[in-house]
Amino acid sequence: MCLPKERMKQYPKNVKIVEVGPRDGLQNESKIISTSDKVKFIELLSQSGLKEIEVTSFVHPERVPQLADGDDVVKALKPHPAIRYSALVPNLRGLERAIKSGIKRIAVFTAASEIFTKKNINMTIDESLQTFKPVVQEALKNKISVRGYVSTCFVCPYEGKIGKENVLSVASSLLELGVDEISLGDTTGAAVFLDVKETVNYVLSKIPKEKIALHFHDTYGNALANVKAGLELGITVYDSSSGGLGGCPYAPGASGNLATEDLLYMLNEMEIEAGVKIDKIAEASKFIQNIIGKRLPSKQLQKILSSAK
Ligand code: HMG
Ligand code: MG
Repeated sequence: MCLPKERMKQYPKNVKIVEVGPRDGLQNESKIISTSDKVKFIELLSQSGLKEIEVTSFVHPERVPQLADGDDVVKALKPHPAIRYSALVPNLRGLERAIKSGIKRIAVFTAASEIFTKKNINMTIDESLQTFKPVVQEALKNKISVRGYVSTCFVCPYEGKIGKENVLSVASSLLELGVDEISLGDTTGAAVFLDVKETVNYVLSKIPKEKIALHFHDTYGNALANVKAGLELGITVYDSSSGGLGGCPYAPGASGNLATEDLLYMLNEMEIEAGVKIDKIAEASKFIQNIIGKRLPSKQLQKILSSAK
């Protein structure tokens, strides 16, 4: 499809997708998946053209049992020079494990709401920033780059609507610590495009758009509209998960992330280049769907799978 130039002016020409299925996707699955199946899933995703994949987390193994084998997953990955693999790290203990595994990128994670932060990482927002300070310093010393997440940027499952001032304040503090990118999360999928426009626009009054990524869950079907709002603000990095796997165990009711296949379909139709092959993502999703034994929510994935029959 060739779109009139006038219509396309307001959108970026290229975007980057950060695939979070192996971490955000699998962390919510109760059936424990073997390390070798996780590694195979990541290897299939690595054949698609993705440049960044979040593969696991180094959190307390009892808090997220599915990812307790993060150390072994990272050690078993085949190196792909064009792909950055990353993992969540909540504290120095997590960083120690990350360094031993050999991973070259980590993500620290906090939130714009106090109650969610406490339930998720057992810290206040201030304590989380204090905890991350030496984590970021040590990581950078070890040539490990660091991303920062701010969860519950629009709506918190415990506190309701979140003020845009909180989001800017936490994002700015993370940048001061030395993270190179901030991913703003709609953890429960409750935001609509007007919330995204308002909050992200406000954040962009102080933080350059090149530093911002957006992370949408699709609980109520708003994720693609939210991406469109982000594109109109010039944001070029989007997190999504293969097949729409996902959720956060500490955000009741949150469902899967925006599906990578559904995001790619929209971007392709808008002639926005992500450099990722939708059929290859669908192959990876098909593999993991068979392993977890339930139909994944991505509409494009299901279309691709039924047309291949
Ligand atoms: P805590 O219990 O307060 O930790 O948990 P602590 O520092 O008091 O330590 C207690 C024990 O845990 C100690 O062991 C530590 O060594 C051990 P002991 O001395 O009692 O034997 N420990 C660890 N072990 C392994 N790895 C570690 C680690 N840290 C401490 N890293 C903690 C605090 C942060 C660790 C815990 O609350 C936790 O692991 N939380 C993780 C929650 C999580 O993973 N949530 C999902 C990810 S966030 C998300 O999905 C949102 C996102 O997608 C964006 C969005 O959608 O908005 C990113
Ligand atoms: Mg998430």
